[in-house]
Amino acid sequence: MVRPAPSLSPRLQQVLGIEAPVLQSGMGGVAGAELAAAVCNAGGLGILAALRLEPQQVRASIRRVRELTDRPFGVNIWLHDDVRSPPDPGAVADDVVLDAQSVLNELRPRFDLEPTLERPEAEANLVDAALEVMIEERVPVFSAGLGIPEPQLVGRFHEAGSKVVSMVAKVEDGLTAVESGVDVVVAQGTESGGHRSYGTKLAKRDVLGSSTLTLVPQMIDAIGASVPVVAAGGIVDGRGLAAMLALGADGVLLGTRFVATRESSASDVWKQRLISGQRKTTLTDGFTGQWARVLESEFTEHWEAAKTKALPGLLQATAGADLFAAARKADDDQMQPLYSGAGARTMSGIPGAGQVVEQLVAEARASLSRW
Ligand SMILES: Cc1cc2nc3c(=O)[nH]c(=O)nc-3n(C[C@H](O)[C@H](O)[C@H](O)COP(=O)(O)O)c2cc1C
Repeated sequence: MVRPAPSLSPRLQQVLGIEAPVLQSGMGGVAGAELAAAVCNAGGLGILAALRLEPQQVRASIRRVRELTDRPFGVNIWLHDDVRSPPDPGAVADDVVLDAQSVLNELRPRFDLEPTLERPEAEANLVDAALEVMIEERVPVFSAGLGIPEPQLVGRFHEAGSKVVSMVAKVEDGLTAVESGVDVVVAQGTESGGHRSYGTKLAKRDVLGSSTLTLVPQMIDAIGASVPVVAAGGIVDGRGLAAMLALGADGVLLGTRFVATRESSASDVWKQRLISGQRKTTLTDGFTGQWARVLESEFTEHWEAAKTKALPGLLQATAGADLFAAARKADDDQMQPLYSGAGARTMSGIPGAGQVVEQLVAEARASLSRW
C-alpha cells in the first residue's frame, strides 16, 4: 500500500482545511470563481476578489465558486481607511487636482482622448456591504488586505463559522492582527505584486518595507506561536515554497504566478508580459493613488519624473480611468497597471492554476528531500 505523503503544513491544514499550503491571493479583476475553484480543487485555498464589486456581484461570485468546488475557499477585500471612508473629492486642494490631471493630459493624446482638469467623482464605499454578504453567505475564509479587521468584525465572522486571514507588511501589524483574534497572518514582503498591505497611505520611504526573506522570520518570532504565518512576495515556484517552509512559515500566498494562468481573468497582454520580455518592477501611486508594485512602463516613468502628488484614496484611479481603459482596449502595455511581483522574472508558461499548486508542492517536496 502506498502511504500518502505527510502534509507539508499540518497546522495550516487544520486551521483552513486545505491539503496544499498554497493560498492564491484575491486579486481585483483577476481572481474570479474559475481561478479560485481551480486552486481549491487542487488542494490549495482559492480566494475570490471582492474589491469594488457591488454586493450582488460578490454574492453571485460566492455562489458560482460553490458550484465549481466543494472545498474551502476565501473571499478578499481591502479594509483600507480610504476605501471604507472614501475621501470627498470636493475637499481635495485645487492644485492637487490640476497637477494630477495635467500629467494625465500629457498622455491622453496617445489615445485621442480629450484633456480634462475635472475633479473625479466620489467613490462609493462598497466594502461594508460586501462584508455583510460574506457573513450572510458564511464564507469558509474571509481574507483581509490593506488594513486589519477589528475584533468585532473578526467576532462576527467567527460566529458565522468563517476563518479570518489578515495580510500585513510589518511585525507591529501582525501583533495587532493577533490581538484582533485572526486565525492566520500573511506576511507580505516588499517583492509582492500589487498594493502594499497597510491600512493607511504611507510616505514612499516608509512603504518599501522588508523583503520576504527578512520579514517572515521576524513575524514567526513575534506571532508564530499564536497563529500560522503564511509568506507572500516574490514566490513563484516550489523552490520558494521550500525556502519559506525552511524559514518556519506554515505556507505561502501567491499573486503574480496565478495572474499568468489559464483561469485568471487578466488580459493576454498582461499574462504575456509576465512571462516574457522586460519584467522590471517598480512602486508607483500613479495608477490608483495607493502604492503598488507594477511592471515598469512609460506611464510609471512619466509619473515618477513629474513628481506630482497622487489624488487621495482611489480618486487617482477614477481620474485616470479613461486613459487606463483606452490602453486596455488598445492592448497597450505601457499605459495601464500591470501589477507584478519581483518574482515574475523566473516565471514561464501559462499553466492551469491547479497545475501551479501541484507543481509547487511536488517541487518543494523534491527540494526539501535533498537535505
Ligand atoms: C494583480 C494583483 C492584484 C492584487 N489584488 C489584491 C487584492 O485585491 N487584495 C489583496 O489583499 N491583495 C491583492 N494583491 C496582493 C497579494 O495579496 C499579495 O500580497 C502578492 O500578490 C504576493 O506577491 P506576489 O505577487 O509576488 O506573489 C494583488 C496582487 C496582484 C499581483
